[in-house]
Amino acid sequence: MYYIKPVISVGKIGIESLKKFPIGKEVLIISSKTVSKNYGLHDIFEKLKKESTLYIFNHIRPDAPFEDLDRVLEELKDVQLDTIIAIGGGSTIDAAKALSIAFGKISYKDIFYGKTQVPNSKIPLIAIPTTAGTGAELSFGAIIYDKENGKKGGIRGEIVQPDFVFIDANLHNGCPTKLKAEVGFDCLTHAIETYISKKSNPIVKNQSINCIKIIFQHLVSACKDNSIYDMEKVAIASSLMGINLAFSSTCLPHRIQYVIGPMTGTSHAQGLIAIYKGWLQYLYNENVDELVDLATDLEMSVVQFLDKVDNLKKELSLNYGISKLGLCQDHIEKITSMVTGNVQADPSYKDINSITNILKLAL
Ligand SMILES: [Fe+2]
Repeated sequence: MYYIKPVISVGKIGIESLKKFPIGKEVLIISSKTVSKNYGLHDIFEKLKKESTLYIFNHIRPDAPFEDLDRVLEELKDVQLDTIIAIGGGSTIDAAKALSIAFGKISYKDIFYGKTQVPNSKIPLIAIPTTAGTGAELSFGAIIYDKENGKKGGIRGEIVQPDFVFIDANLHNGCPTKLKAEVGFDCLTHAIETYISKKSNPIVKNQSINCIKIIFQHLVSACKDNSIYDMEKVAIASSLMGINLAFSSTCLPHRIQYVIGPMTGTSHAQGLIAIYKGWLQYLYNENVDELVDLATDLEMSVVQFLDKVDNLKKELSLNYGISKLGLCQDHIEKITSMVTGNVQADPSYKDINSITNILKLAL
């Protein structure tokens, strides 16, 4: 099964383009600080204020911790919101996705801990991504963080998918080159993992192959030359990988990153870059069929594909393993024991030793 929704618009953000979406009277805007300053959003907000009451927050930190969500819920507990607009990277959008279902009677924390189901109604959400990679703007999950209990996880369900998505490559292009490259690598991991996963299907694979080709062809120019043309290609591919995440799954790298991210204080993308050093090598060593199929679909040998990924990492200065994140051999057992989630979706997973071996190769 595969279907693409919601409404996705590509172009330059402005009051006219925003007004194509139903904004409503009471509007929560979650935006990242840098974006608010750099993109003339202030002017757009001023115009919106003529017709709507805006509640603007720009305090969401990386990983979208519970306390940041609670602050919004507390401050707006007496407001009947019509819409939420999220402008920012993955954490900002994920926070907004969680908030879109959090104003009702059901506690988002109970949903997070599996004590109750996601509700079937929400506040409509407009997502405007400013980084190209997480796919958060189209995926069915909101990844948030219970800092107190050290647990990062997801609220999952179609209901949390944003209702409208606006892609403006100018917003993406303003993000620093290093971040652009790192997040672009996250996009590549979504394409590779949703293909390799046991949950994949032919349409997912088709989209993955397209995305991998786009990343190989356009990510370097998008990062190094600040090319809007290349950036828009990457941004669209990245968003569509959000749909792939909904109809397939990620593999062990994402399971492992959820542990080492909070442990090392490194970003989602940095963790994946480091883990990929070991995971791709492990897939190759174990002769995983899906890796062979992926390379074949790209009209490459497996070795050529691995070289292509390596070269991309070198060109973007992303060529490192988990030791760069401050981890060593002594941490591996603990990390392995903390990995949770559906590890079986990864065809290379045999038992817990698979994770240990991936981590050793990733040092
Ligand atoms: Fe990811």
